[in-house]
Amino acid sequence: MPLDPRYTLAALDTIGSTNDEAKRLARQSDAPTLTLVWARRQSAGRGRLERRWMSPEGNLYWSCVVRLPLVGGQVAPVTGDLCFAAAAAVVATVRRLAPEVADLAVKWPNDVLIGGAKTAGILVEADNGAAPFAVVGIGVNVGWAPDDTPYPATCLAAHGGTTDVARAFDALSAAFLHYHDLLITAGPAAVRADLEGLWARLGERIEVRAGAEPLVGVFEGLDGHGRLCLRLDDGRRRTVTVGDVFFV
Ligand code: BTN
Repeated sequence: MPLDPRYTLAALDTIGSTNDEAKRLARQSDAPTLTLVWARRQSAGRGRLERRWMSPEGNLYWSCVVRLPLVGGQVAPVTGDLCFAAAAAVVATVRRLAPEVADLAVKWPNDVLIGGAKTAGILVEADNGAAPFAVVGIGVNVGWAPDDTPYPATCLAAHGGTTDVARAFDALSAAFLHYHDLLITAGPAAVRADLEGLWARLGERIEVRAGAEPLVGVFEGLDGHGRLCLRLDDGRRRTVTVGDVFFV
């Protein structure tokens, strides 16, 4: 499948982090929106919360520059929406490349799980400088899953899916472009609609770390802005914009 011509691709053998390389390109060489960085392996792959993202050959390490629109002189608040677009793209990719998978879920805001185990992670980083942009970084465990993570992990191959990283690259790139365009033309609610029914632990007790004090309560759903709604044990309702969910 040829890469859509709207993308500009930098395909690399080894790099520290595709996110860092995408940021470097965006800052130094004025790389256009939809500049993609794809590496065979990363020597310093990063996850959220400063976690290391193990990146040997056999998995997909994909980052994309998205230039952010300015609204009234301010950067439009689309970084969270890009997280959902990325999650929806990964879901579409897993469905295409591992069609036997039945138990697919998204841990808010954007970890993709198969059978409760993490299969893909997403790291969106924004630069709100003079030429604002975001880098959407996605790691998909295609042929290999780490066994030293603080959470269970799995890969597509373990669920009858492909081991072909180039196929995963093609599928993810096509799916991300679809959701990028949907975000622009139809808005964030249209993107989130494709994630309905996929939220892990909906209606169950979860822990959310969003500040100094962890919050524990029932995950009641998302509000119209994609924020997580939590019913605390004392009956109060809290909405969380940025945070990490832990299963209790
Ligand atoms: C997470 O779940 O904590 C996010 C993991 C994001 C990993 C990807 S791999 C491609 C890109 N480059 C990085 O250094 N990180 C992201």
